[in-house]
Amino acid sequence: MCGIVGILGREPVAERLVEALKRLEYRGYDSAGVATLEGGHIARRRAEGKLRNLDLKLHAEPLNGTVGIGHTRWATHGAPTERNAHPHATEKVAVVHNGIIENFRELRHSLEAAGHVFRTETDTEVVAHLVTDEMNSGKAPIEAVAAALPKLKGAFALGFVFDGAPDLLIGARRGSPLAIGYGDGEMYIGSDALALAPFTDRIAYLDDGDWAVLSRNGAEIHDAAGHKVERPQIRSQASSFLVDKGNHRHFMAKEIHEQPEVVGHTLAYYLDMANDRVRLPKLPFDIASLKHVAISACGTAFYAGLIGKYWFERFARLPVEIDIASEFRYREAPLEPGGLAVFVSQSGETADTLASLRYAAQHGQNILSVVNVPTSTIARESHAVMPTLAGPEIGVASTKAFTCQLAVLASLAVAAGRARGTLSEVDEQRLVAALVAAPGLMAEALKLEPQIEALARNLSKAKDVLYLGRGTSYPLALEGALKLKEISYIHAEGYAAGELKHGPIALIDETMPVIVIAPYDRIFEKTASNMQEVAARGGRIILFTDAKGAEEAGVETEATFVLPDMPATITPFAYAVLIQLLAYHTAVVMGTDVDQPRNLAKSVTVE
Ligand code: AGP
Repeated sequence: MCGIVGILGREPVAERLVEALKRLEYRGYDSAGVATLEGGHIARRRAEGKLRNLDLKLHAEPLNGTVGIGHTRWATHGAPTERNAHPHATEKVAVVHNGIIENFRELRHSLEAAGHVFRTETDTEVVAHLVTDEMNSGKAPIEAVAAALPKLKGAFALGFVFDGAPDLLIGARRGSPLAIGYGDGEMYIGSDALALAPFTDRIAYLDDGDWAVLSRNGAEIHDAAGHKVERPQIRSQASSFLVDKGNHRHFMAKEIHEQPEVVGHTLAYYLDMANDRVRLPKLPFDIASLKHVAISACGTAFYAGLIGKYWFERFARLPVEIDIASEFRYREAPLEPGGLAVFVSQSGETADTLASLRYAAQHGQNILSVVNVPTSTIARESHAVMPTLAGPEIGVASTKAFTCQLAVLASLAVAAGRARGTLSEVDEQRLVAALVAAPGLMAEALKLEPQIEALARNLSKAKDVLYLGRGTSYPLALEGALKLKEISYIHAEGYAAGELKHGPIALIDETMPVIVIAPYDRIFEKTASNMQEVAARGGRIILFTDAKGAEEAGVETEATFVLPDMPATITPFAYAVLIQLLAYHTAVVMGTDVDQPRNLAKSVTVE
């Protein structure tokens, strides 16, 4: 994913900007650049490829400004060229950006109509022109940023420097993390504390919606409503190891909150967002000639695969069989040679999944793995690897890896549909546009955290919890139950809602919370009937839905959480955030070891 740094210094900053960017290389990138004020005016140096290319440029044409911003870019909109590398600038402002500006097209059209001339294909350049447009109407830099931010849609982090303003650096955060560093007469911004570790360990993380105005004397932080706020300064441990918890109590909380950023980054790897097309890396087999798909995985990865099954069958009309890996490896599945076998694994080291991969390989399958560790054993034994770009996942309970797995599987299913002619170009553009909106909707789901936290205090008193869902919400019901049981130790089961009358309804009484995951769709009223059945027996209903679902539920609920309307394809992304937050906060109330739950390991490398 992209990395952002900024320094408001007492001496030239260009070299230190590059040093900070080198500490963000682990995020992955394909071009880089810096901007400083030279004689008060914006000057940039940018280069395609690795940071050494930028270093060479700076040695050939040094920059001496004492305020500047830097960026490592993972191309989302526009090819990884120097022209598209950040910082992007007008004569008045330079900006660096991590994330996705969803409404860049309409903003660009209205700015072009106002006379702005664009030089790149990026969504980021729109931000530079939008702020410039505000300044052209007479606003000072700070007011111009304050006016521009609410006009942006999506999940992003931003850094700004301004022509003729050598004592000003502005940072903004919505969905993608941004830290402020406090130095001795200097101030900094960075995508994480790691980037700033060479300069300071005094860090404050911005909250979602915050924007900060930095001068050499300190920072003035504003929340989304424009009110001045304080954010806690912490002593970062980042210099001692790669990842820290940021402002969060647990790695799991941090990783839940990282999802808009890392899902956006994973989608950007597989989608051409400027043209709403899928852009898969070259695969060593012909998707169009596939006759069947076998998916195999364990735990949370299995539930991601189960959602993938729905998508493969719906978009590509490909028959999919899916197995828990520990069953697949022994059931001697008859596999027609030339099929596709997909293995989903965060660690890439899970023993049962690896054994299943080897069985499939011995039976002539094309082996594709979806892993978060591209150097892992499963990746190395695959014919094709589609990495999730979640970054290191430290919490034993998998969260951001799960939603990144969904991003990969959705991209693959749409690509398969196009290759097999079961999806038109218009279908592809519709589905890709929906996926591009997923990170922003996940950020919206995160805003319900305070209400989820209140519910968790009640849920923590339950002995058993039932999760229900239909369609792609059924695997989410299974995942929600797994998340709750593995970190809070409360027994929980996930069921297809349609199965209620086939047994689990016997469990329902006034002590049993029933979590119903049901965005309003064509089968919603079936689930509404299930809720009637639960209510008739005194069951406690907690409903995750949207506005229409809340309106049509037809039952008294203990709590109803309403997410924005969204295309069916991306409900798993946003609703996953709610079930993750519920499990997390329930475990916190229970006082369990959230990041290292009892009896569990992050990677099960034995049978
Ligand atoms: C998920 O929260 C659990 N930690 C566990 O079910 C995990 O998903 C499973 O062990 C598979 O691990 P993998 O993705 O590394 O293969």
